[in-house]
Amino acid sequence: MYLFSASAIATALSFATLCSAQTLSGQFTCAPAGEYTLCQNLWGELSGVGSQSSTLVGNSGNAVSWSTNWNWANNPNNVKSYANILSNTALGVQLDNIASAPTSWSWSYESQSQGIRADVAYDIWFGTAPSGSPATKGSSYEIMIWLSGLGGIQPVGSQILSNVTIAGHQWDLWTGPNSNWQVFSFKTANGDITNFNADLQEFFSYLTENEGVAPTQFVQAIQTGTEAFTGSAVLLTSSYSVAINSK
Ligand SMILES: *[C@@H]1O[C@H](CO)[C@@H](O)[C@H](O)[C@H]1NC(C)=O
Repeated sequence: MYLFSASAIATALSFATLCSAQTLSGQFTCAPAGEYTLCQNLWGELSGVGSQSSTLVGNSGNAVSWSTNWNWANNPNNVKSYANILSNTALGVQLDNIASAPTSWSWSYESQSQGIRADVAYDIWFGTAPSGSPATKGSSYEIMIWLSGLGGIQPVGSQILSNVTIAGHQWDLWTGPNSNWQVFSFKTANGDITNFNADLQEFFSYLTENEGVAPTQFVQAIQTGTEAFTGSAVLLTSSYSVAINSK
């Protein structure tokens, strides 16, 4: 059973619509969370040994709080899971039709074993059609924004730029292919960003202006979560929100 820490309970109490916390423990299980869907995606669990559970703490308006509790061993270079929250509303807009895409993400590790290997990251999907599921034939680009990357893990591909300033933070930019889509990963150049407030449009316009991404691409999905490799941790998102405002 999942045990709440004192701070998770304190966070839960600030979410007015909380009825009862819901915990997911299956390999591919999801739960509705207001404007979001919480999914525990343990897609790589067979490359390791361990377990994970994810809990919806509460949601209120456009904000959501959730946590995930993971414990994985073996194959340190393999991702075991991507527990994430998906926005059901911030999608289906063409890049050149986006006025702004405000987001806010406050998170912390409530506990962690020594030397964990994990990222805390956005995973944003672009395609030529207005809608499409993440990581499918309809995906043209995967845009990751790493607010944390611990234990020496690296994004897909190779690093092409260092210390680029976007949305008030410095990033190393990585790129490379994955299946039928191209990945761009903005990895924090200055350590963990635990209170992130930004307009995602600044990342999108960077890509259309500098990296050849067509402004006719659509945002098909915005996910945020953690890719866990090895170790054990409890990661709490005390508050997260994202929206897309069209022109
Ligand atoms: C990265 O960029 C910031 C802001 O421009 C600058 O203050 C800092 O010195 C740079 N760091 C490195 C390692 O170049």
